[in-house]
Amino acid sequence: MIITIDGPAGSGKSTAARKVAARLGIPYLDTGAMYRAVTLAALEDGVDLRDEEALTRVAAAGDYELDLGPTHIRVTLRGRDVTEEIRSMCVNDHTRHIAASPGVRRVLVEKQREIGRRLGSIVTEGRDQGSVAFPGADIKFYMDAEVNKRAERRLHELWAEGEEVTLEQVLANVRERDRTDAKRSAGPLTEPADAIRIDTTALSIGEVVKLVLTHLRRAGLIGPGADKPGRGPHSEPPSP
Ligand code: DC
Repeated sequence: MIITIDGPAGSGKSTAARKVAARLGIPYLDTGAMYRAVTLAALEDGVDLRDEEALTRVAAAGDYELDLGPTHIRVTLRGRDVTEEIRSMCVNDHTRHIAASPGVRRVLVEKQREIGRRLGSIVTEGRDQGSVAFPGADIKFYMDAEVNKRAERRLHELWAEGEEVTLEQVLANVRERDRTDAKRSAGPLTEPADAIRIDTTALSIGEVVKLVLTHLRRAGLIGPGADKPGRGPHSEPPSP
């Protein structure tokens, strides 16, 4: 079963994806972490972030590994745990160049599909998961929230990570990311026509998760009581 959740920064999609995956006991794929890992690798290699070919080579080299679980994602780059480092403001500010590279997107979308095929069931979140990576997903969600609320959420995340930033800085950063997410020609943030839209502005994370599970039940993807995934078209064949 492939569940996609797309939406802008701070819409709550990452937390929702992680919690829904944990409830279902299936891995969640944070595709933003992939773009962030490639960004960190390119920065460490001193690659010119406008050099499309060099960026694509960094992405294709695959020097990073994702350890996906229902409650965690750990990212290693050349054997070093960079799970926290990829969330820094520095990586944040540079990732939009990497996310705009058609070559990098091609490589990463192919990796995402390969992960989907290998794992069979995942909750995957990003900007293009329902539109480009998994257009045939079993169910698609699109999450959004008012920009001030999204900036506020991101501010608290950054403070929790020890970053010294103000609401004004984060708001400017979120607005800038909205602009670049929407206007890039390769893999722009897209609300798929067949996605279920959830406005999370006034909802707690518990309410968002409940809503997603209700939609999964309605679609017959999970049973009425249990949170166990049903067998969607993407499920792996049973082992002999
Ligand atoms: O979701 P996030 O903030 O971790 O994403 C980091 C960056 O990667 C952000 O600039 C958007 C981009 N991204 C993307 O272009 N496509 C995705 N599927 C996921 C993230």
